[in-house]
Amino acid sequence: MSDPRIAIVGATGAVGRVALQILEERNFPLSALRLTASQRSIGKTLTFRGEQLPIEETTPRLLAESDIAFVSANDDISREIGEIGPQQGCIIIDDSGVWRMDSAVPLVVPEINASDIDWHAGLLAIPNCSTTPLAMALCALGADNAVKRVIASTYQSVSGTGTAALAELYQQAGQVLTGQPTVPTSYPHQIAFNVLPHIGSLKEDDYFSEEVKMRQETQKILHAQIAMSTTCVRVPVPISHSEAVHVEFERPMDPSDARRLLAAFPGMVVTDDPANAEYPMPIDAAGRDETFVGRIRKDTSNANGLVMWIVSDNLRKGAATNAVQIAEEIVKRGAWLHERVSK
Ligand code: A2P
Repeated sequence: MSDPRIAIVGATGAVGRVALQILEERNFPLSALRLTASQRSIGKTLTFRGEQLPIEETTPRLLAESDIAFVSANDDISREIGEIGPQQGCIIIDDSGVWRMDSAVPLVVPEINASDIDWHAGLLAIPNCSTTPLAMALCALGADNAVKRVIASTYQSVSGTGTAALAELYQQAGQVLTGQPTVPTSYPHQIAFNVLPHIGSLKEDDYFSEEVKMRQETQKILHAQIAMSTTCVRVPVPISHSEAVHVEFERPMDPSDARRLLAAFPGMVVTDDPANAEYPMPIDAAGRDETFVGRIRKDTSNANGLVMWIVSDNLRKGAATNAVQIAEEIVKRGAWLHERVSK
């Protein structure tokens, strides 16, 4: 069978551009690559393997001519393409929150639950960018000592909101430094030189949607009803999300055992030498595919508790890398929609 034909929907966006780069970096085997974005980008080109590829309109025909499409645009597009794509015989790997909790849609972090790919029906979702690193750490630690409860506080970068928000951060920073007023548009308040304990829309019990997503998605990926409470905070960092995580296990967890388990987990790197000021930081994690963990220590408030600090590039492992890894697994497993045979 020939190499798959790939499409990126939202190719000009913060995640789409990184997906393009990652396909090239990983030398992903593909026989065609189509790029789409909104009307305003039609006519532009993006470079892939030294070739200029045109930005096209997202049409049912384009999807019918593709075997796998990465979708990272907006919720309306995800909703529409999540329905049309599989009907056209194109497997959709979706980055939005629209499909993640749908019981017919696998929500996948390949290092954790690659086998969930086997039951896809043409649509798969990648988790929220703050869920993935947390789920990986919990999976690494919980294998022999069940995770009972998690309290997580996030420090999430502005690129998670998209290209326009990132431009606004830099613009506001310049405005503040030169004494000009700022006009927030991406967020309800100024993000430069500020932190916002508010990501998404308000849901039940006064949690914001990002906080609900982290809990529900982690439970779905790990196939475990772990008790969890989260506080998600937007910070004026361009790329990489950080998380302070308190985990309660069934039994005590020795920090040195935790370091060993985390270091052995695929895609995780332990950076934990606080005496020498070595710990994961967003500026070091940006541009990297690994999830970094440090500040691993006992929770002084809980005999079975452990505290850690996790940092991961939200555009890469939090989005594009995870999506490309899922596509690689589909190829490896031959987990195609049966229509591909006749394409
Ligand atoms: P465009 O650049 O033409 O606006 P971000 O998350 O960085 O804000 O990017 C969102 C992505 O979604 C961009 O690539 C954007 O394209 C794309 N997009 C917006 N509307 C559509 C649409 N109707 N069809 C396809 N892509 C879209």
